[in-house]
Amino acid sequence: MRPGTLQLQSLPPLSLYIHLPWCLKKCPYCDFNSHEWNATAAPGEPLPEAAYLDALRADLEASLPLIWGRTVHSVFIGGGTPSLFSPEAIDRLLGDVRARVRLEADAEITLEANPGTFEKARFKAFRQAGVTRLSIGVQSFNDAHLKALGRVHDRAQALAAVEEAAGAFDTFNLDLMYALPGQTLADNEEDVRTALAFAPPHLSVYHLTLEANTLFAKYPPELPPEDDAWAMLDRITELTGQAGLQRYEVSAYARDGHRCVHNLNYWQFGDYLGIGAGAHGKLSFAHRVARLVRAREPRLYMERALAGDAVVSAQDVRRADLPFEFMLNALRLREGFALQDFVERTGLPLSSIEPALKEAAAQGLIEREAGRVCPSERGFDFLSDLQALFLPEN
Ligand SMILES: C[S@@+](CC[C@H](N)C(=O)[O-])C[C@H]1O[C@@H](n2cnc3c(N)ncnc32)[C@H](O)[C@@H]1O
Ligand code: SF4
Repeated sequence: MRPGTLQLQSLPPLSLYIHLPWCLKKCPYCDFNSHEWNATAAPGEPLPEAAYLDALRADLEASLPLIWGRTVHSVFIGGGTPSLFSPEAIDRLLGDVRARVRLEADAEITLEANPGTFEKARFKAFRQAGVTRLSIGVQSFNDAHLKALGRVHDRAQALAAVEEAAGAFDTFNLDLMYALPGQTLADNEEDVRTALAFAPPHLSVYHLTLEANTLFAKYPPELPPEDDAWAMLDRITELTGQAGLQRYEVSAYARDGHRCVHNLNYWQFGDYLGIGAGAHGKLSFAHRVARLVRAREPRLYMERALAGDAVVSAQDVRRADLPFEFMLNALRLREGFALQDFVERTGLPLSSIEPALKEAAAQGLIEREAGRVCPSERGFDFLSDLQALFLPEN
């Protein structure tokens, strides 16, 4: 074996991500691989559900040799707006998955849903199709802010969606964003209190960021001052804590027993097969860790997937990049990581990160205890500075 070869003693847990790329309308802040259906379709033309499901099935089949014999622990159907797909389509999709991969009996199966994209009772039908967890893109309950974000739904639809989800699912998540155009501290508090009134088992709260190649990047809206954004985050953490949710990751808050298994696997540098337009995957082998990307444009993806050729890029992660990639994920967790997990997931010796760990400890950005490393309060607040200590030298 060549010196410097990775040595993975065991493979990490495996999850499956499925991307459904269409939305009713592209939001001006969004840089996800999401496409306005109306922009490319003839008026009134329905989503090509069946053709897309055929493509996903072919994509999954072509990927099977890469995950042979491994069990899938969670499935995440993300988007785009997966709730635009009918419950019958989701039922077929999950049937296609179960027929081809070994899915753990109690696997978490999440579906992203947008308010305003469903008729009443659709969420129950998703539950019956096998979805165990719904993640609703609420963003805000304030009509003015929803409008500023270019969302297709209003407050009433957001409230109806959450009520519907709470009735149909034992566990569900609400996505909120803060530091929105024109938002005050009081507005943010009102949003959080409204969300908490539904006793959600899980909340994801993201700071609105202006992403390159979005309408907001081109025409930036006026955003609250940075000090206000920090104060909003403090208040969010305080209010969620009082309501019994723990901030277990930078943007994720959960009650006991309701942490997102699928996302935890990303943050713990687990493996995931990603199928669907533009989906990313990370797969480990005995001596390498590979990243794979599918064709991004939905129609091109469908063509290529049916031809067994959906992957447009497959690259091994450079040995030198593994520490930073691991830390980009693991340090987002309040509880950090076990040093042994670093060795298992990257195949590298601890000596490869010892100098950076020493420096991080000297700067007060991490705490080390009994074989574990976790970000300190300060490290959590200045996470990118902490993660940057693990960047390769070239
Ligand atoms: C994959 S997205 C899409 C989910 C769903 N289609 C929706 O928009 O409701 C998941 C979440 O990322 C968050 N998000 C998207 N763009 C963001 C941005 N520019 N800044 C902060 N959060 C963002 C939103 O909260 C969104 O619900
Ligand atoms: S609905 Fe979600 S995925 Fe679609 S454009 Fe808006 S933020 Fe992006």
